[in-house]
Amino acid sequence: MIILGLESSCDETAAAVVKDGFDVKASLISSQVELHAEYGGVVPELAAREHLRNLGPLVDTALERSGTAAGQLDGIAVTCTPGLAPALLVGLNYAKGMALAGGLPLIGVNHFTAHVYSCFLDNQEALRNKKNFPLLALVVSGGHTSLIILESDGTSRIIGRTVDDAAGEAFDKGAKILQLGYPGGPLIEQIAAEGDPARYKFPRGLSGGSGKAVSAKDRFNFSFSGLKTALLYETRKHPELDSRLLADLSASYQAAIIEVLVRKTVAAAEEYGVSTVLLCGGVAGNRGLRRVLQWKVEESEKKFIVAPPCYCTDNAAMVAGLGWHELKHGRIADMSLDAQPRLPAVPEPAAFAPAFNGSRQDASLNLNSAI
Ligand code: KG4
Ligand code: ZN
Repeated sequence: MIILGLESSCDETAAAVVKDGFDVKASLISSQVELHAEYGGVVPELAAREHLRNLGPLVDTALERSGTAAGQLDGIAVTCTPGLAPALLVGLNYAKGMALAGGLPLIGVNHFTAHVYSCFLDNQEALRNKKNFPLLALVVSGGHTSLIILESDGTSRIIGRTVDDAAGEAFDKGAKILQLGYPGGPLIEQIAAEGDPARYKFPRGLSGGSGKAVSAKDRFNFSFSGLKTALLYETRKHPELDSRLLADLSASYQAAIIEVLVRKTVAAAEEYGVSTVLLCGGVAGNRGLRRVLQWKVEESEKKFIVAPPCYCTDNAAMVAGLGWHELKHGRIADMSLDAQPRLPAVPEPAAFAPAFNGSRQDASLNLNSAI
C-alpha cells in the first residue's frame, strides 16, 4: 500500500510517499527557517501562508520523484495534532481535498507518535521484536520534552515532561540571547564544538543540583527556564561577546541541557525496567546528545535506538509511515476530522506496536472532541 503523508504542524512543510509503512520512496521538506528568523521564532499566520504556497508543489514533486501516479495512492495521512492551529489546518484541508477527489481514505496522524515512529522507519526489525518492549522514548523537539513508556500492545503513558520550556525551545531561546539566530539548536551545536563545556556551571533544572531536593512528582520532569535565565545574566556581564566567550557559553549551555536529558532518561529506564531507549524529535539531531545517551544506555545494558538525522526534525515520512499502520488497523477518519492544537490528554494506543490489536480507547482519538 502506498501512502502520501503531509506535515504542516509548525514551520516545515513536508510531503512524503511511503510504501508499506517503511519503504520511503520520496520525502521532501520545505523549511521556513529564513522567514521566521527575523522574528526569532515561528509566527503561526506566516507559517500557514507558507504552507499554503508550498504544499501543492511539494506533493507534486513527491509523487513525481517516487514515480507514483495519484491514482496509485491507497491513502492520505496528515498530521492533525498537536501543532499550531492555523498551520495544521492547511495540511488537513489539503489532505481532505485530495482524499475526496481521489476517493481515498483520510488518516489523521498524531505528530508526537509519529516522532516516536520515526525511530523505526529504517529499523523495521526492532519493531517486530516484542522483546524490545517496553520501551522508553525521549521525545525532544521545539514543542516537547517528554519521557514516554510504550508497551508492546501500543498503550503508553507519559512519565515525565517539561514544566516550562521544551529542550528545543531552550536551544532557540539560548541562541536568541547569544544573538546567534534561529533555529538555535544547530547553531549552538556548531559554535559549542569549539568551546569549553566546563567553563560555566549552569543550573541543571529539577536535578537536585542546587541543593534543593527534587519532589517525587518532578523526578522525571524537566525545567529549562532557570538555565535560560542563568545564561542571560552571564551574558549581561560582558559588554562584548567575543568568539571565545560565545563558544564557551554555548558549550556550557548545551552541556547543561544534554546532562539533564541523559541523566533523567537513564534513571527512568532503570526505574521502569525497560528493554530499549528511543531518542527522537528535532533535538535528537544533536550529535552530543546522541553520543552521550547511546553510551549511557548501552552501559546499562539496554538497547538504544535513535531516529536517523533526516527523520529527527519534522518530516512527512514519519507521518506516512505511521499512517500505513493506522490504515492497516482500520483507523480511518472522516471529513469531520479537525485540527487539535494540543496533544490529546489520553494517548491513543500506537498502531505500530507489535502486539497492537486494533482496539480503541474510548474518546482518546476522537480528535474532534475537546480535551
Ligand atoms: O521536531 P522539530 O523539527 O519540530 C517540532 O516538532 O518542534 O524540532 C525543532 C527543534 C528546534 O527547537 C531546533 O532548535 C531543535 O529542534 N534542533 C536542535 C538541533 N537541530 C534541531 N537542537 C539541538 N541540536 C540540534 N542539532
Ligand atoms: Zn515535531
